[in-house]
Amino acid sequence: MNQETKIIDENIQGQALMRETKNPEGKKLFLESYGCQMNFADSEIVASILIDKGYTTTQNYKEADVIFVNTCAIRDNAENRVRQRLQDYKKIKKDKPEALIGVLGCMAERLKSQFLEQEKLVDIVVGPDAYRDLPNLIEQAEGGQKAINVILSKEETYADIAPVRLDKNGVSAFVSIMRGCDNMCSFCVVPFTRGRERSRDPESIVRECKEAFEAGYREVTLLGQNVDSYLYSGGGLKKEILTPEQKAASTNFAQLMEMVALVNPDLRVRFSTSHPKDMTDEVLEVMAKYENICNNIHLPVQSGSSKVLNRMNRGYTREWYLERIAAIRRIIPGCGISTDIITGFCGETEEDHQETISLMKEVGYDYAYMFSYSERPKTLAERKYKDDVSEEVKNRRLAEVVALQRDSSAVKAKEGVGKVHKVLIEGFSKKSEEMLMGRNSQNMVVVFPKGNHKKGDYVNVMVDRCTTSTLIGEVVG
Ligand code: SAH
Ligand code: SF4
Ligand code: F3S
Repeated sequence: MNQETKIIDENIQGQALMRETKNPEGKKLFLESYGCQMNFADSEIVASILIDKGYTTTQNYKEADVIFVNTCAIRDNAENRVRQRLQDYKKIKKDKPEALIGVLGCMAERLKSQFLEQEKLVDIVVGPDAYRDLPNLIEQAEGGQKAINVILSKEETYADIAPVRLDKNGVSAFVSIMRGCDNMCSFCVVPFTRGRERSRDPESIVRECKEAFEAGYREVTLLGQNVDSYLYSGGGLKKEILTPEQKAASTNFAQLMEMVALVNPDLRVRFSTSHPKDMTDEVLEVMAKYENICNNIHLPVQSGSSKVLNRMNRGYTREWYLERIAAIRRIIPGCGISTDIITGFCGETEEDHQETISLMKEVGYDYAYMFSYSERPKTLAERKYKDDVSEEVKNRRLAEVVALQRDSSAVKAKEGVGKVHKVLIEGFSKKSEEMLMGRNSQNMVVVFPKGNHKKGDYVNVMVDRCTTSTLIGEVVG
């Protein structure tokens, strides 16, 4: 894989769970996750449900009794990768016919029984809202039946299930604050795979963050497809039918973030993903008020052309987006800003593409995830528009966007040189056990000699040089 595809598709590599639990009697579970952070957070719920039932985990699929792949359907290549993996896993059935293979998550929800009937790749198919049913489904499959539950829920938030943390470092934890998405961006499959938007009870969120802090975590990332749309009114009331009084009595995202920031000043707070149409100044003001809320916003723009944004059904224009960027710069000077970009969406002209380029230059992103458009079945775009930009043009535009972003990231890294950064240590650097790595508030990686420091500590690092994406320096005072 060349460097370029690595940047574009870093979430296409599956990640096996990292922690092993010990119950020598228990059946062995191998769990691999693809896709976004929400899927990783869901895998922690799945692990919790099954470990509760006596399962033990393994990192070697060949010795597993149950293999689960938590899948992503966002682009075609994400799905192809999962199909390949399932073919590999299926081979273990030659030696171990009783082993069960299950597909979870967004691709399970999208393809439903097709996995069992046409593709004959798996024994169990479970959508993102049906994980409580996993023990039953496994039992059914053990009895020789094919097991499937892809029912989407309007209420399920798994609020009461304490996730089993599967991260690598024990320092940063993901906390899911809502599920689903009601936005219907025309290119996007998520509303079909994850169902209606619903917000999780703030008390259970704060409790989970406290428990993470007590377990040694020093950073939480609050997760939702559109965190700015978070609204919890209690009593299962739907946002659309709330009276103005009920709305005022509900908890919004700014208020939730403040509650989490107050858990402990040494607990860093991050969140993802913000939506440009919904991001309020109130949220930015709360960020500015608390030192432990990181100065970093992921604000996906998708395109710099208002015409394309309109076809994408994003609910904002180029001008609106740039006004939101100006608000961030005004209220949180020095805030890191990252984005997502799609090249070659239906009807995108060369002029539209140049507008994306000029917007990127104007904003100067710290980081970006960049993709070429991949048509998804059932989406608005698939039904309404022609996927009329050739693969060649999509990829050429993507390469241009990637090159520009590389320059922009390098500029951002250079701006960090000669300054002191507060860093939360996550572990050893990739290259050497003599060096530690962590992130600054803007989410940039900082590397420095280890001295007597350890992961989970905060240190101030004076940065004296950089690569295109990493700051390097020494701990001071
Ligand atoms: N909820 C987030 C994004 C979730 S999906 C938001 O609204 O910003 C993550 C990213 O995948 C999107 O921001 C988009 O850039 C990309 N993406 C989604 N559907 C895609 C498709 N059909 N083809 C290419 N990229 C896509
Ligand atoms: Fe998809 Fe749009 Fe929802 Fe993001 S906001 S998950 S892009 S529909
Ligand atoms: Fe993929 Fe589902 Fe996330 S489609 S990006 S795993 S919400």
